[in-house]
Amino acid sequence: MIQPHPIGGEPPPTNFRRRKPELRKRLRQQRNALSPAQQAQAAIALAERIKTLPAFQHSQSIALYMVNDGEIDPGKVLAWSLAHGKRCYAPVVARARAAALSKPRCQPHKNSLRFAEITAHSKFQRNQLGIAEPLVAADELLAAEQLDLILLPLVGFDGHGNRLGMGGSFYDATLAFKKAAPHRRPQLVGLAHEMQRVEKIDAENWDIPLATVVTEQRIYHCAELPTSQAARARPPGVN
Ligand SMILES: Nc1ncnc2c1ncn2[C@@H]1O[C@H](COP(=O)(O)OP(=O)(O)O)[C@@H](O)[C@H]1O
Ligand SMILES: [Mg+2]
Repeated sequence: MIQPHPIGGEPPPTNFRRRKPELRKRLRQQRNALSPAQQAQAAIALAERIKTLPAFQHSQSIALYMVNDGEIDPGKVLAWSLAHGKRCYAPVVARARAAALSKPRCQPHKNSLRFAEITAHSKFQRNQLGIAEPLVAADELLAAEQLDLILLPLVGFDGHGNRLGMGGSFYDATLAFKKAAPHRRPQLVGLAHEMQRVEKIDAENWDIPLATVVTEQRIYHCAELPTSQAARARPPGVN
């Protein structure tokens, strides 16, 4: 329940910050309560919607995720993409830092992700969070900037593309460069069960907004980027 702000009007973002853990818990419980049949049906509907997106159709290198914690499953999207010649990747947490640190001038945030290619022959191992990762040599891992499209998991979202993650800020750290250049690749599409939509998520200044969210029921084309961000991305006179 939102507490009324003492001087009236909108509660400050700090209020939302305090409510985040409780909201994450509720949304995670709801999606974990879905039956295997509901999850399978959602995964099929999701893939059908994603295939209609120009951002997906035009992308050759696509990151998605190995399903975990009741998330909507992009497995059908993966299978279709591999069968149609797209290159697919999954995020790697465990060895991302080690790989980045082996490059002397690269000092990433401790939670930044790298991306490992998934092929028909991939072997997987579970990382420290219990999520499967393709086993790929550290020097073959890609940075987010090298991908055309990232399909992101999320815990909650709103109609403006604000995203609530699991609380590790992994994608925010990985995509921090998009703050200064929102139109730079990769394009960002969040995937979720419809039940994960909430009225409003107060973004923190480190949160990276999503251009689109796809659920089993519909596609949300989120609001245009704020003019201040768009202006920074495209200086006057540059198109
Ligand atoms: N750029 C940042 N500056 C300061 N704190 C940060 C930054 N990025 C992440 N954090 C920390 O990470 C925590 C999780 O970030 P949050 O965006 O809530 O996670 P998620 O994106 O996984 O939902 C925050 O509560 C904050 O303490
Ligand atoms: Mg965040």
